[in-house]
Amino acid sequence: MDSLGIVSRQCLRNVLVWILLNVFLAGKSLDNTGYSWDEWWSYDGISGSDFWGSYNPDWELCSKGQFQSPVDIDPAKLLFQPNLPLLNIDQHKISGNFTNTGHGLAFSVINSTDEAVNVTFRTSDNLGYVYRLHEIHIHWGSSEHKGSEHKIHGQAFPGEVQLFTYNSVIYHNFSHAQTQPHGLLAISVFLQIGDKSNTELAHLLSKVESVRFRDQSIVIQQLSVKNLLPQTQAYVTYPGSLTRPGCQETVQWVVMNKPIYITKQQLNTLRQTRKGDGPKAAGPLMENNFRAVRKMGEHRIFRTNIDLSHTKNKVQSCPSMYSNFEYQAKKWSIV
Ligand SMILES: *[C@@H]1O[C@H](CO)[C@@H](O)[C@H](O)[C@H]1NC(C)=O
Ligand SMILES: *[C@@H]1O[C@H](CO)[C@@H](O)[C@H](O)[C@H]1NC(C)=O
Ligand SMILES: *[C@@H]1O[C@H](CO)[C@@H](O)[C@H](O)[C@H]1NC(C)=O
Ligand SMILES: *[C@@H]1O[C@H](CO)[C@@H](O)[C@H](O)[C@H]1NC(C)=O
Repeated sequence: MDSLGIVSRQCLRNVLVWILLNVFLAGKSLDNTGYSWDEWWSYDGISGSDFWGSYNPDWELCSKGQFQSPVDIDPAKLLFQPNLPLLNIDQHKISGNFTNTGHGLAFSVINSTDEAVNVTFRTSDNLGYVYRLHEIHIHWGSSEHKGSEHKIHGQAFPGEVQLFTYNSVIYHNFSHAQTQPHGLLAISVFLQIGDKSNTELAHLLSKVESVRFRDQSIVIQQLSVKNLLPQTQAYVTYPGSLTRPGCQETVQWVVMNKPIYITKQQLNTLRQTRKGDGPKAAGPLMENNFRAVRKMGEHRIFRTNIDLSHTKNKVQSCPSMYSNFEYQAKKWSIV
């Protein structure tokens, strides 16, 4: 198999996709009818993530960006730094609008300045920004071996919860911040299967049946965002992007070192969520709503405050994140 062969097959594939796309869109101009780019994109096929950047000039970063997310985090490439910022999240409970967006499930903070959940990400000498929670996204898969967007050492998890926050020191709202330098901080937590779920996750997922179809929404009250996170300050952080169009490279990711738990039953309920907008137009299942990992890139820096040298089972050149995940993975497979 020579490289020329690969190139021409790739070109052929692009041509085919271009043709298919035009057939698909025949009669509906994306700009002039009610049909929108937001409805076009998906996680597979000709509107999947390999093609987001190919057709909409506003989404060029999806294909050309060099700091894209998600990534498969290679534990051997982490830079240990003990004094990384501390992550602190407001305690108080909030209300939000839990919605089926057609791409996933999102909990959006209802705009009320009193209720704002502040997230501080600052070093001990108070350097760093304060962010404000905007939205929580949930990603999941059709089997236990896929679903998360990020991976660790090649391993995916059954799901991932992502908290999107914007820099409220510099910007007034999320939509502006997502296009600006240092605009967003996204906190990622893996979902692992267990006998008993995280209680806040259970609170969110208790309403999944009310948002089975696209555009359905329900207000959820009394959610403690802080308790949705595992009790740890250990994480991996790196500069990346949104994992949906337009893939803006304005996101500092913080991937927590411990998962939270979801039960098999909750996961099965999630998997019944649909992309379509009603029982008569249910559309496909929404499962596997994750973007494939992008290149980690030699020039990007992945920092961690997980210090292996202080742990008992010292393993050279294998940071603790990996061993922790191995541990969790074993636990998970015997559940
Ligand atoms: C929740 O979101 C949906 C879809 O965007 C919207 O139609 C609805 O008005 C929102 N509800 C509230 C209470 O904000
Ligand atoms: C949220 O509410 C505050 C206060 O009412 C207002 O100043 C701000 O513009 C609102 N933000 C958004 C994104 O609607
Ligand atoms: C969040 O930060 C804003 C701006 O600094 C502040 O006015 C508000 O009181 C904070 N909220 C809480 C719950 O601490
Ligand atoms: C967000 O902030 C920008 C810049 O301050 C402003 O132009 C825009 O109208 C705001 N959007 C919303 C939805 O409040």
